[in-house]
Order: sequence, then C-alpha cells, then structure tokens
Amino acid sequence: MKPLIQPEEIREAVERLGRQLASDYSGRTLTVVGVLTGSVILLADLVRAMDLPLRIALIRASSYRGAVTRPGELAVDDDLLSEVAGRDVLLVDDIFDTGHTLDRLLEMIRTKSPSSLKSAVLLWKQDRCEVSIAPDYHCFKIPDVFVVGYGLDYNDEYRHLPYIASLEESDLESLTGEAGS
Ligand code: IMP
Ligand code: MG
Repeated sequence: MKPLIQPEEIREAVERLGRQLASDYSGRTLTVVGVLTGSVILLADLVRAMDLPLRIALIRASSYRGAVTRPGELAVDDDLLSEVAGRDVLLVDDIFDTGHTLDRLLEMIRTKSPSSLKSAVLLWKQDRCEVSIAPDYHCFKIPDVFVVGYGLDYNDEYRHLPYIASLEESDLESLTGEAGS
C-alpha cells in the first residue's frame, strides 16, 4: 500500500470545498445527499465545513461488479432519500471513476424535480471517464490507480483510514489470494 494523499491535505481540501459551497449556495438551504457507503467520511467532514443551513439525506448505490473495476448493473435504494422536489441538491460521493454511478444517480434524482442539482466528489479519476458529464466540484484529480481510505474500500475494508493510499496490483492479488494472470 502506498500513501497518496495525507490527512492534512484532505482536511485542507475539504475545508476549501466547504467554503466554496457556502459561498456558491449563500442565502439558500442546501440538501446534501451522500451516496452510501463510500461518501460517509467525506459527508461528515464536508457538512461541518459549510457555514450554511442544510439538510442531509442518503442514497444507496451498489454496482454489481467485481471487487475492483468493471461497471455493471447499478442497484439504487432511495428509501433514505427525503423530499428533494423544489430543493437545491448536492450529490456527494467518494470518487468519480468511470462516472456511471453519478450519471445514473443524477438522472434518477432529476426525475424528482429538485430546483437545482450538482455533484461533488473527493477524487476524480479523469482518465477513466466513460460518460458525458464531469463532477461539478472535486477535491483531487488522481491517476488511474485503485485507492482506499477516507471512505473508499476494497471488499469493504480500509474505509476508516484517515489518508488515501493506492493498492498495487500485487496487493490486490495477495489480498484475494488469487494468482495473477
Ligand atoms: P464509477 O461508477 O465507475 O464512477 O464508480 C464509482 C464507484 O466505484 C465508487 O463509488 C466506488 O465505490 C467504486 N470505485 C471506483 N474506483 C475506486 C477505487 O479506486 N477505490 C475504491 N472504490 C472505487
Ligand atoms: Mg462507492
């Protein structure tokens, strides 16, 4: 595992994003929708960095994919998504990778008639984008490496790490016990 982004850098970037959002949404009440589970750490830090009246809602998205990469069907559970009609909504996720997850979630929330809808992510793997949208706000652009920590997992582990680290191909193989091909 190789450390990529230190806790202090994350804290500064999240606080900067919080100030930017507070300024952009000044005078309005924001509904921040976190995507479970990866966004929970960012969500907790970001809402505390925003000097704004706001509401918090959650949505769950699980993609049927291997532990690591290929996008597949996306299952969306919006039971925890409160009323968004007529509200200013900001969708928050851990990472914009291929972009399919955010693209689908934004499309779904848009059908519920928010008065505005934007997205914010901690990490953006710009080179992997497979959709026509980009995140409206991001903290860091990263290269095409698999990362864990600060909410991001590998097989549901490592989300609690206070830093972002990249996992090498060999780490992934030894963790799954599979032989490389
Ligand atoms: P997308 O639909 O390809 O943009 O992928 C978004 C989801 O894939 C994220 O919410 C993560 O759960 C997962 N993901 C993509 N890249 C990584 C990574 O490097 N580490 C951990 N999870 C990732
Ligand atoms: Mg996720």
